[in-house]
Amino acid sequence: MLSLVVVLSAVLATGSAQAATNRFPDSFLLGAATAAYQIEGAWNEDGKGESIQDHFYHNHPLLGLNSTGDVACDSYHKYKEDVQMLKGINVTMYHWDLPQALQYLGGWPNELMVDYFVEYARILFENFGDRVKWWITFNEPAVFVNWYAAIGMAPSQNASGIGDYLSTHTVIKAHARVWHLYDEQYRATQNGSVGITLNIEGLEPATNSTEDAEASDRARQFQMGIYAHPIYSAEGDYPAVVRQRVDANSAAEGRPRSRLPSFTQEEVDYIRGSADFIGLNHYSTDFVTSGGTGISPSKTRDSGVITSYNEAVPWGFRSLLNWIANEYPGYPIFVTENGLRNSGGRNDTDRIDYYIGFLGALLEAVNVDGVPVIGYTTWTLMDNVEWSLGTRAKFGLYEVDFSSPNLTRTPKVSAGFIAEVYGSRELPEQYFR
Ligand code: BGC
Repeated sequence: MLSLVVVLSAVLATGSAQAATNRFPDSFLLGAATAAYQIEGAWNEDGKGESIQDHFYHNHPLLGLNSTGDVACDSYHKYKEDVQMLKGINVTMYHWDLPQALQYLGGWPNELMVDYFVEYARILFENFGDRVKWWITFNEPAVFVNWYAAIGMAPSQNASGIGDYLSTHTVIKAHARVWHLYDEQYRATQNGSVGITLNIEGLEPATNSTEDAEASDRARQFQMGIYAHPIYSAEGDYPAVVRQRVDANSAAEGRPRSRLPSFTQEEVDYIRGSADFIGLNHYSTDFVTSGGTGISPSKTRDSGVITSYNEAVPWGFRSLLNWIANEYPGYPIFVTENGLRNSGGRNDTDRIDYYIGFLGALLEAVNVDGVPVIGYTTWTLMDNVEWSLGTRAKFGLYEVDFSSPNLTRTPKVSAGFIAEVYGSRELPEQYFR
């Protein structure tokens, strides 16, 4: 279950020199991220049971070499080589691989998962807490709860507009319990930080109309706010617009209760403030407008937003970082994923262009706008199993030859570029707009 987030370069704050706009602050953490299922392999070794991903891909085989995570990049055995590419490590607790045994009990819609997750977290704190100082409870709940609403990825449960909200509710409670566990029993001795990683596109208004501005905010509340508002806002609980729209639609559908469960006031107070930082995964920007789309019931229909098109625009990243900082003041932001997918090749200048744009936008958000971003880990260290796309989709700084018996790793030109940026801790002037 554990995923690896690799920190290549971290220098302690010295606090003196005024940062140039193209430089990362002295204490800024830089690295590359990976996920257990996507690289480790060894799906049934050393007593490991079947996860929902193992179960799903064993029963829905994909075409192509090594397209399940059974072997993947074999990092379970080749970890020394992989760590050699790097200088230090941190860890995510849950990157979408629930034990299948727990899925047989219903998985995340079942609130029993809270207790199981807390016991799992306790084992991690006990065994790794002396070395791991940055903990992420969940990676991208907005993505994995969606597979309780639709088929296509594990656990492929078709309960649209219900399974996803029930799962959301459980995940938020589990996150809060784990943060409190750490805070009460481990923080004093282990001195680390616990957060949750939320994914969100730019979600910019398609036009400058008031309606589209409202649609943009609604889209952000339905995607990120539904998790972030209970945890990071001053008042806690689900965002008002989410509560109101799901309640109204549920009533119109003739249901005796809302499809979105409610927190008690005690739970609201317990969940609010239960994080030390905001983890953020961001890849691109969608342009949104107001309107009804999606099946009924569904989160998409509840949100009343139509997504027009998607682009990798760095300004969308800067704008989003500013929105998050305004919405949830006082919390440092750790960008835990950002990267480009292409179809392969070591001369990946398109990936370098992407990083130039997005690292530039990040540096402007930090050094010009004052957004408190404290770290950045790129997705991803090496080509891996990209879920239902198998090994065809390439996100890596390192190429993995999936047809070679050794699964040979070779640096791409983007690895050299990232090494240069991380080593100098700045985006070279010539790339900076
Ligand atoms: C996920 C990764 C995935 C990446 C690229 C992220 O949303 O956390 O597991 O490989 O996107 O699609």
